[in-house]
Amino acid sequence: MDTYVCGRCGYVAFNQVPAVCPVCGAKKEVFKLDINAIKNPQDPNNLNELEKKHIPVIDIRKECGLVDTGCVDANIKVGRVLHVMEEKHFIMYIDIYLDDNFLARYHMRADKVNPVLGIHLKVSSGKLLALENCNLHGRWLAEAQI
Ligand SMILES: [Fe+2]
Repeated sequence: MDTYVCGRCGYVAFNQVPAVCPVCGAKKEVFKLDINAIKNPQDPNNLNELEKKHIPVIDIRKECGLVDTGCVDANIKVGRVLHVMEEKHFIMYIDIYLDDNFLARYHMRADKVNPVLGIHLKVSSGKLLALENCNLHGRWLAEAQI
């Protein structure tokens, strides 16, 4: 899968460049093809310590306590070993995609939040992607089926 990166905000588009960046509004000319934009584990069945701290974990809950019907909860944690949130090393944001389409970016402050996110989706199926960006170790991706 080809990945294109916005030169202004770092948003990653899959397979094709959007007319404008859905995060920052930059024009398509600022996007560059970067097939290494997202890091991959060396062995998905045997993650090393760095990979355990960076690859998000997605937990889908079909019953939501906040909205009566039609809501699916997705809890996202970076990672299976919780990533640090310190001034010099932290998760800057998590981008959420549904069926490869951008949904939202969640910015994170190192001093106030854990690298954990709960979102409520009004869909009953689809492929959810969570892409996190560590200021030192780059972008890592997780996928879950709703
Ligand atoms: Fe990191």
